Amino acid sequence: MKNKNSVKAPKDKKIEARKRDIAFRILTVIGVSLLLGIILRLSKIDDFNSVGDFFTGEIWLQILILSVLIATVLSTLYFYSIYVRSDLRKDKKLLPVLSVSIIITFALSLIFSIFINVYIAPLVLASLLVATLLDKRIGLVTTVLTSQAFFIAYIVVFGGEHLVDIAAAIITSMIAAIFLVCNMDRSGSRFKFTGIAIIVGLCTALIPVLLNLMTDRTNVVNMLMSGLWSFLSVVLSVALYMIFLPIMEYLFRINTVFRLGELCSLESPLLKRLAEEAPGTFNHSIAVGNLAELCADAIGESPQLAKVCAYYHDVGKLKNAEYFIENQKGYNPHDDLIPEVSVSMIISHVNASCELIKEAKLPEILADVAREHHGTTPVNYFLYKAQTYTEEDLDKIEFSYPGPKPQSKIAAIIMIVDTVEAASRAIQGLSSPDKFRAFIHKLIKEKADHGQFEECGITFKDLKTIEDTLVNILPSMYHARIQYNNPRE
Ligand SMILES: [Fe+2]
Ligand SMILES: [Fe+2]
Repeated sequence: MKNKNSVKAPKDKKIEARKRDIAFRILTVIGVSLLLGIILRLSKIDDFNSVGDFFTGEIWLQILILSVLIATVLSTLYFYSIYVRSDLRKDKKLLPVLSVSIIITFALSLIFSIFINVYIAPLVLASLLVATLLDKRIGLVTTVLTSQAFFIAYIVVFGGEHLVDIAAAIITSMIAAIFLVCNMDRSGSRFKFTGIAIIVGLCTALIPVLLNLMTDRTNVVNMLMSGLWSFLSVVLSVALYMIFLPIMEYLFRINTVFRLGELCSLESPLLKRLAEEAPGTFNHSIAVGNLAELCADAIGESPQLAKVCAYYHDVGKLKNAEYFIENQKGYNPHDDLIPEVSVSMIISHVNASCELIKEAKLPEILADVAREHHGTTPVNYFLYKAQTYTEEDLDKIEFSYPGPKPQSKIAAIIMIVDTVEAASRAIQGLSSPDKFRAFIHKLIKEKADHGQFEECGITFKDLKTIEDTLVNILPSMYHARIQYNNPRE
């Protein structure tokens, strides 16, 4: 009886948690929709001469209709998000990110529409935030749904006097958003992205000009001004995006492509120190970064994240740079140390990396990968060296990294590529592509046999893809080192 209860309890807890989660999501959709419904209806301030005007049945019916419209948009976006990205189903940040992006965009679009004109409404903002913080596909659908919903709400509240202007503003925002979202990865930095925004803004500004040309050719000033406001709408959206993105990156602890790109900059203080104080480790980290980027891309993980993690995985070697072979120029301080001391110096770089990453307030994932990149593997060189001094079997754990084993596919990639890169000096003498493949395969298999990939969800298929990627790319990266002999010779 006791056993039955103890088995049932966790299941009940799971069901309870699931119910609470669903209730939280429903309440979020209702709360956000009602809030936006009220904001939209209140924005036509002329209708409210006294507090009592707000509490009439007619006003609340309009608020209800507007809220249902927003709830439909938010729910559709939510379901589309988990349809294209099933991993977001359990992500508690999904609905808050969608909600905050839509609230900010609607509120600012209302303010600019009321105080300037409808063309300058920064409707592109929501799609940019969603595309960066969640997924580009979701960002593209966000632009279609939010632009349409905003203008329907705008017509309901303010009337449809300037329908052509409203239609021109919708299509301009949607086209601009699509071009900007599709060019996000190419830009690489926030500065370049602003340049792309200016070009997109100039091109899309032609749309309202042409639409006005078709409907009212007599008012040239109006025609040109609509183009100018449309251009400013794109620039304003991108400017607001630059302001809100870091805030949302911080609030939701999300590493965006831009943040990762900036962390990869060789001007970043830790990397600069690494280049100056431990040049060997610096070169190793850059090489690991290039390989990890390709491997991550090949198995569908974030290439930018893999690259950043690789750049910072060994920063702890800064503390005792000369104790690591890649930084030594002739003299090896381990020659004067007993193996037990040597191994503790080597192993300590893992914790030192985590400390330096935390001190520099870098994303937590970098510290996680640094902590896990050697897993629980032994430092064989010093284990074998220590064994030569005694006939007793040594405790392998004392010569092993403390772990944990890689907890993510990115950490597993860094572990593999780190080993392969460090061993690349040995592949110089391999005489054929088959031998080279066998060498890479052996390195990966050793880690797998040692149980290092048990906790990170990486599959055999992923490992094979990583092996293929390394076999294809390494000869071109190290063409000076790897020279296959012609087997017929
Ligand atoms: Fe390391
Ligand atoms: Fe390394």
